Amino acid sequence: MQPQQAGDEDGDVVTPWTVTAKSETGVDYDKLVQKFGSELITSELLSRIESSTGVKPHHFLSRGIVFSHRDLQSILKTHEDKKPFYVYTGRGPSSTAMHVGHLLPFIFTVWLQKTFQCPVVIQLTDDEKWICDPEKMTREKAEKFAFENSRDIIACGFDIKNTLIFSNLGVLSHKVNLPEFSPLADAIGIKTTNNKVRAVFGFSGEDSITKNFFPARQSVPAFSTVFRHVFGMDEKSKPIPCLIPCGIDQDPYFRITRDIAQKLDHPKPALLHSKFFPALQGLKKKMSASDETSAIFLTDSPAQIKNKINKYAYSGGGDTVEEHRAKGGNCDIDIPFQYLRYFMEDDEKVAAIHKSYSSGEMLTGELKKVTIEVVQKLVQEHQRKRAKVTDDIVRQFMSVEAFPRKNCSSLDFEQD
Ligand code: TRP
Repeated sequence: MQPQQAGDEDGDVVTPWTVTAKSETGVDYDKLVQKFGSELITSELLSRIESSTGVKPHHFLSRGIVFSHRDLQSILKTHEDKKPFYVYTGRGPSSTAMHVGHLLPFIFTVWLQKTFQCPVVIQLTDDEKWICDPEKMTREKAEKFAFENSRDIIACGFDIKNTLIFSNLGVLSHKVNLPEFSPLADAIGIKTTNNKVRAVFGFSGEDSITKNFFPARQSVPAFSTVFRHVFGMDEKSKPIPCLIPCGIDQDPYFRITRDIAQKLDHPKPALLHSKFFPALQGLKKKMSASDETSAIFLTDSPAQIKNKINKYAYSGGGDTVEEHRAKGGNCDIDIPFQYLRYFMEDDEKVAAIHKSYSSGEMLTGELKKVTIEVVQKLVQEHQRKRAKVTDDIVRQFMSVEAFPRKNCSSLDFEQD
């Protein structure tokens, strides 16, 4: 399906299905924020996060990787007033081959959970993957991918006592007991016209009616009452505010959700938007599991990582050593440098590399060597943690039991 709004006047395309940029510096995010009507995260807001939590903002925030928001102030106010809120995020499980870019939202969500000590719900949209590609995908396969992807998600360090992972197909087939899910999806669907989903997502008359309905299901977890028994709410409890960290391509779903929230007596969910993780070939495209040479997979060996970065990572360095020494490298388009911004936590080290590479002192081969080591370490650590996530642990994360879960046999499951 090709969304109607594909092919903007400025050349960038950002929809839940397609992301491409015209410039080699990537998507023009300032323009996108204007077009979507969200707000940039300012340094004042970063200071407020720090003063309300006592924790230094995650480097994704301070480096502008998580860069835009809707109503974050109201979530901070809730936290400052010592009232509860929860975090909702998700993933479309299209295969078992997850890449390093897929980890980012979960690394960030774990940080939110630790910093705000809040419950997290994670929706796996296996239904979406099946509905949107029924020729290639089967229901059974999508459900299996959801289970396998959960292992990678859990390995990011979520708190087993305070995190629910659920798949939509699991809910719909009553394997997961969220009895208010479908009625709430219907209530949302009733308030959403065909015209609206066509305008927002570019659906056409050729698309199946099931696909037209899917956005309602992605909205449901933003309404706290669906998790009533998980969050310990009774019939009279007021809905709990929701914060959704997501890639900015998911914003269209939540614009619809926000429009409907008040009609259903819920607060509008707040949003935190992140930028796209670039492909090895450069910032014009995002890393994609279906384009093998664009991606570093979570199953890659150290040798594969080294080869991929050496062979494919787009360089902003000079063509020859002489030219590089004379003109310096361009960090804004250099993929090895961009990956360090994501994965090297030490701000001073990143700044020193930026300076040295831009001046031409540090060579492309030297920068790639640093990036290779950082990414190898990240992936190896991930593989080590993932190996500890047994089927039983996955099932416990997927069980609809009130928070904080007391009966987990694996409460000793430590995420070191
Ligand atoms: N549709 C998203 C995807 O394909 C998955 C998703 C569902 C999601 N709910 C979400 C992502 C909430 C972010 C936040 O990846």
